[in-house]
Amino acid sequence: MKPLIELKGVHKYYGKGKQRIAAVRDVTFQIEAGETFGLIGESGSGKSTLGKMLIGLEPPSEGEVRYAEKALWKGQSFHRPRPGEIQIVFQDPQSSLDPRMRVKEIILEPLRALPRLERLEKGGEERLHALIRRVGLKEEHLSRYPHEFSGGQRQRIAIARALITDPAFVILDEPTSALDVSVQAQVLNLLKELKQERNLTYLFISHNMSVIRYMCERMAVMCKGEVVETGTADEIFRTPSHPYTQTLLASLPSIFRDKRVEANV
Ligand SMILES: Nc1ncnc2c1ncn2[C@@H]1O[C@H](COP(=O)(O)OP(=O)(O)OP(=O)(O)O)[C@@H](O)[C@H]1O
Ligand SMILES: [Mg+2]
Repeated sequence: MKPLIELKGVHKYYGKGKQRIAAVRDVTFQIEAGETFGLIGESGSGKSTLGKMLIGLEPPSEGEVRYAEKALWKGQSFHRPRPGEIQIVFQDPQSSLDPRMRVKEIILEPLRALPRLERLEKGGEERLHALIRRVGLKEEHLSRYPHEFSGGQRQRIAIARALITDPAFVILDEPTSALDVSVQAQVLNLLKELKQERNLTYLFISHNMSVIRYMCERMAVMCKGEVVETGTADEIFRTPSHPYTQTLLASLPSIFRDKRVEANV
């Protein structure tokens, strides 16, 4: 199978001269179509920076970033595939949803980038209603504002917003880190179901090993901007080869290393 995403020797520097920091160093990995690929690492290890390069928010300083065999970046300019084909869900639905917009406008907003006919078709009433119900909300919620919802509900709105364009690839940047544990499990299960139903490919970013274990087929471990280990989640959880991964796993109750207790995320 051909990879959907390919990163080759990717570096990202912020700042200049003495202030320059390497947020991402020489990162190489691939994401296959249809898989959930996990990215784990401590705060500041460069996970979100990688996500930003894939969605077009930050150009790489060096290296290649390819989507479906085409370069996403040529210098500073982002060559996106079909508009809406790559979407993102951020950690904090509180700040990622515009408080002045109604839920309906929030969900439809990504369609603005689409050609008119496609926008009309994808933003049709029936399709919107089916989507809001699918993420576990109600049609009457469409006319409300984000502050009227709980954290879990707001993240369901953010998921609907990501899916309205019919994406192929979705970046989930700590999508449940701000949620209570019970709500977190519900949202993770919703994401799993949606992936199956819609043939999605996910990049799942988290600093929570048990969440990564529950969600991902393959994964990369990041430490200080570098990928220190890549492999299937099964391999890495069974026999972590890098000391940093071993430390991450050591802090995890052994019960969570077993896929069979997956309901315990
Ligand atoms: N716009 C920016 N300007 C300067 N430095 C930045 C910028 N964005 C990120 N950084 C720095 O780059 C490094 C990587 O940040 P990044 O947000 O990618 O980490 P992360 O792994 O997503 O962390 P977290 O788990 O806290 O979300 C950090 O040292 C951060 O301070
Ligand atoms: Mg981050």
